[in-house]
Parts: sequence; C-alpha cells; structure tokens
Amino acid sequence: MTATTFPPGVGLTTNAAPFIEQARSHGDVFIRQPYELYSPDNQDTWRRLYARIRPRWERYANAKFLQGVQDLALDPSAIPKLEDVNHFLAPLSGFAARAVSGYVPAYVFFDCLRQRAFPTTVTIRDGQHLDYLPEPDIFHDIAGHVPMHTDKAFADVLVRFGEFAREAAAHVRGIPDEPERLARLESILRAMARFFWFTIEFGLMRQGGEVKVYGSGLLSSFGEIEHAVTSPLVQRYPVRLEWVVNQGFEIDHYQPLLFVVDSFDHLFTLVNDLHDWLKAGRLDNVAPGEPAVNETDLKSFLAAGAAAA
Ligand SMILES: [Fe+2]
Repeated sequence: MTATTFPPGVGLTTNAAPFIEQARSHGDVFIRQPYELYSPDNQDTWRRLYARIRPRWERYANAKFLQGVQDLALDPSAIPKLEDVNHFLAPLSGFAARAVSGYVPAYVFFDCLRQRAFPTTVTIRDGQHLDYLPEPDIFHDIAGHVPMHTDKAFADVLVRFGEFAREAAAHVRGIPDEPERLARLESILRAMARFFWFTIEFGLMRQGGEVKVYGSGLLSSFGEIEHAVTSPLVQRYPVRLEWVVNQGFEIDHYQPLLFVVDSFDHLFTLVNDLHDWLKAGRLDNVAPGEPAVNETDLKSFLAAGAAAA
C-alpha cells in the first residue's frame, strides 16, 4: 500500500492525526516520529504543559526524576525529538524511547521493555483540554516516564518486568485445557497490570522524611501530582505485594489509594518477589476485576511466547 504524505504542520493531535490513522490502518505498531507534522498548536500545548507542571515537579517529584529531566536536557519550549532524547538516554541506562502508533499488544509491550526500549506515543493532547486524557500522549510518555529511565536501577526494574512476558507464557504452556490456560494467563496479566499501575504509573516513594512521587501518571498530571501527596482524600500505604496484585483500579478519576516504596532497590526487590510468585502459581487466580487484555491478545501472547521459547 502506498503511504500518503501529509503537509508539514498538519498536526499530531491525539485522536486527530491522519499520519497515525494511516499507520494503524496499515497495522504498523512501530513508526517514526514525523516531527515535521507537529502544528504550531501542538508545540504551544507542549510549552504550556511544561511551564505549568515544572514548579510542581520541584516540590513533589523524587530527586532521581529531577536529575533525569536535567540529564535529558528536555526543551521546555519544543516537543522533544526522540532521537535527541535517546542520544542523552543511551549512555545513562541503555534505554531508548521507541515511537508507536498507539495500542501495543501486551506481549510486544513487555518484550520491548526487556530489550530496553520504551513504547512512546508521538501524538500530543488537544490544547483545549490540558488536564484529562485517558490515553497516553508524548507529554505523559516523554515528560512523565522517560526521565525515570535515566536511572540505572529504575531501568533495570523495567527490564526485569519485561522479562515476565516469556516467563508468564512458559508458566501456562503445559496446561492442556485451553480455557484454563487462557484464564490463568489472564489472571497473571491482570496482576502484572496492577503492579505496573501502582508502581511505575502511580507510585510514591519515601525520601528523607517526606513522600515523593515517582509514578509517571502522577508526574505528567498537573492536578494529580499535588493531590497524590497532599490530599486527605488519598490513602497512602506502605506497599504490600499481596495487596497490589489483588487491588483493582479505575483510570478515569484521581486515585484514592496509592502505595509507598522505600527506594528503587526496594522496588527491584518487589519485582523479584513478583517473579517468584508467578513461578509459584500465586498469580494464577488473583482477585477478579477488569480483564487486562482481551482474548485475541491473550492468544497472540501465547503464540509469541511459544515462538520465543
Ligand atoms: Fe504510562
């Protein structure tokens, strides 16, 4: 199929980007960042998002994140070029931001992390609605996630997490009954999605006598980063793995429950514990909730796992 070319500045706005629609219609998950297509409005949206959240990072973000922002030399006035970000990132942790067209199948997502690549959205939210966005955009992915990837210990947590895909597929492979095999895999993926949500996306960390933010969902939200640390409406508990893997969550409002880790070493220990629990079958039947992935995705997960074995 011939690719259409789009005029420079046509826009890469979330849910209104012809380049992305074309990539998806061709089934392309990994894409280039067509930088020339960002519109002046898109660039203005980045500037406004960055300018208003910067003071909140200074107050609420953990020290590693602030160092990461500095190390990446993020430009407050222009949407980052992924190749520039990666130029600074590679020597620090070996990680890279890799452009994607949108939804990444579960197995591919994990496997990307295993290979030290982070699936990165290139579109940016509509400038009329800076606050609420159910799907990721480049501000969430680059300003929220990637500064954490400059830290070697944190990057190693992601790689360890990414290795679970193969292990989860291997764990259920011997189950002869297909519905049972899919049900166990779905439970494992639900547990892993919960772990990812309550740590990588919405985690809090003790730092000195304070609680600081390291979760990217919070780091990219002007409203919730402050709410997470200061609101009496938020329950903040020391992280417990048995709670996290059994705790459901909703994505369309501020989180009422957050978990606090002691350090990145602590987080790494938790990922290793999660691995042990997977092997021991302790994730085979976690508390019910929203399925992490649909049946098609489960089947392609198993097929990909089998191909990698
Ligand atoms: Fe995210």
